[in-house]
Amino acid sequence: MDRHGTAAVTAWWRSAVIYQVYPRSFADGNGDGTGDLAGATARLGHLADLGVDAVWLSPFYRSPMVDSGYDVADYRDVDPRFGTLDDFDALLAEAHRLGLRVIVDLVPNHSSSAHPWFVEALASPRGSAPRDRYVFRPGRGRDGELPPNDWESVFGGAAWTRVPDGDWYLHLFDAGQPDFNWNDGEVRAEFEAILRFWLDRGVDGFRIDVAHGMVKADGLPDVGVTGQSELIGRGRLPYFDQDGVHEIYREWRKLLDSYPGERIGVAEAWTSGPERTARYVAPDELHQAFNFDFLQAPWSAAAMRDVIDACLAASARYGATTTWVLSNHDVQRHVTRYGGGAAGVRRARAAILLMLALPGSAYVYQGEELGLPEVLDLPDEARQDPQWIRSAGGQPSRDGCRVPMPWSGDAPPFGFSPPGSPAPWLPMPASWAQLTVERQLADPASMLALYRRALRLRRTHPALGAGAPDPAVLTWLDAPDGVVAFGRRPGLTCTVNCSSTPVTLPGYGEPLLASAPVAGRVLPPDTAVWWSAP
Ligand code: NOJ
Repeated sequence: MDRHGTAAVTAWWRSAVIYQVYPRSFADGNGDGTGDLAGATARLGHLADLGVDAVWLSPFYRSPMVDSGYDVADYRDVDPRFGTLDDFDALLAEAHRLGLRVIVDLVPNHSSSAHPWFVEALASPRGSAPRDRYVFRPGRGRDGELPPNDWESVFGGAAWTRVPDGDWYLHLFDAGQPDFNWNDGEVRAEFEAILRFWLDRGVDGFRIDVAHGMVKADGLPDVGVTGQSELIGRGRLPYFDQDGVHEIYREWRKLLDSYPGERIGVAEAWTSGPERTARYVAPDELHQAFNFDFLQAPWSAAAMRDVIDACLAASARYGATTTWVLSNHDVQRHVTRYGGGAAGVRRARAAILLMLALPGSAYVYQGEELGLPEVLDLPDEARQDPQWIRSAGGQPSRDGCRVPMPWSGDAPPFGFSPPGSPAPWLPMPASWAQLTVERQLADPASMLALYRRALRLRRTHPALGAGAPDPAVLTWLDAPDGVVAFGRRPGLTCTVNCSSTPVTLPGYGEPLLASAPVAGRVLPPDTAVWWSAP
C-alpha cells in the first residue's frame, strides 16, 4: 500500500518528485557539526509535509571524504561520521512509514584509493590481476615519465598519477578516486553484489554517479585538446558516454526488475545533449536520467521552450518521461544562477511552478524549497571541494551550495546541530535567520509555502504528475515574446513570464497557484501561474 492508498504500484518513478538529501549538510543528530543519518531520520517529517514522494541520499559510505563521500572505501558500510548500518535501517524504516521511498547513491566509476582493492593493487606487481581491477598503464616518454595519454581530470590537472614502480593509474576525478576497469569480470560481479546488498536491505533504487563514465574507448585514445572539462555536457570525449555503458545498465535493469516493488536506477549522465541522455532511459535500461540541459538553460522563454521540447521529444522516442532538475550539490544554486537577489528569488519561485507543471519526474535539492542562495563568500580556508583545491581556485568551488540547512532560531547553526555543538563544517550566513524552515512555515508568502502548495496540487490535480492518465500530454500555446505557455490535460495551463515587462494573457480561467501576486490577466515579470483552464 503506498501513501496514496493504492495497492498496485505502477511506474511511480515516471512522475515522482524526489528530494535530494546531502547527508553532511542536512541535519546533525550527534552534535559534531556534521550532518548524519540519525539527524536526517529526525527531519524526515519535513519531507513528508513538503509532499515529495522519495528521498535520494548522497553517499554516506565509509570514505576518507576526499570528495565528500564520492570516494568510497567500503560500499557496504556507513561511515562513522554518518552513523551505522543500524542508523541506515532506522532511516529506511521511518521513511517507509512516512510513505517516502529511499534511493541511495552508487559510485561505480571509481572507488577511494583507500578501498582494499586499490590498496591490494598497489601492493601487487605490474600486470597482476589485482591491478587489472583498475586502469594501470605504463607511461609514455623515454622512461615512462609522461602520462599514458592526454586525459584530464574533471577536477583539473592530469587524469593519471604515477606509482613508485613506474606504472600510472587513471582517475577522472581526484587522485584519491581511482577509476575501476569495467572490462574486468570481478568488478562487474562486485557491483551486482553491492546492488543486491542494498536492495536486500530494502532500498527503492539507486542514483548512479558518473553513469556515463565506466566504459572507456578502446585503446584509451588521446582527446587532442586541453581544457577538456569544457566539453563535458557539450561534446564527446573518449572517456565519457561510450556505448559500452549501456550494456551494464541492461544487466542492472534485469537485476532491479527481479526485486518486487519497482526499484529504480537514475543516471547522472553528462552527455552532449538530450538525444544522448535519452539513451539511458531506454525501456530495458534505467528509469530516469537527470535532465541537465534543463538545469543549464538560461532564464529565457525561448531557451526554456527549446530545451523542454528537445528533451520531451528525445525521451518520448524511448517511451520514457523526462526527469527535471534545477539544482544539486554540484552546481550553483538556481536562485543565484538566475541572477541572485530579489530577481533570483522571484525567478526561482516561477521556475518551480514551471518544473512541476512539466510531464515527468522532478528532483528537488535540499534547501531550494527555502530559496537558499549560493554562499559566494565562504572563506578559502573553509572550502573543501577537491575541484577547487586541485584547480588552485581556477574552477568554481561547490562548497557554496553545500552549506548546512537552516532549520530554526535566529543564529547559526540554526538548529542544524543540537545546542552546544561545535560550529558546522561550513559556516552558515547570519542572514539565513530569515530563511529557516521555522520562519518560512509561519509565512504564507514564503518559498516553502509555495513549494508545499505546488506539491500538494501536483498530487491532487489530474493534469499534473501523479494521477494524470497520460502524463506525457503537453500542448504549447501561442504566447507573447518572453512567455512560456502550455496546456496539460485535463484543465491546466501553465504560463511563465521570463521577461522583465508585464504581459496581458488571453483568459485561461482562474489562477490555481501563482508564484507572485497577479491581478486579472496581467502576468508580471518573472512570474508563473497555473490556471484552471486549457
Ligand atoms: C558526481 C557527483 O555528483 C560529484 O559530487 C562528484 O564529485 C563526482 N561525480 C565524482 O564522483
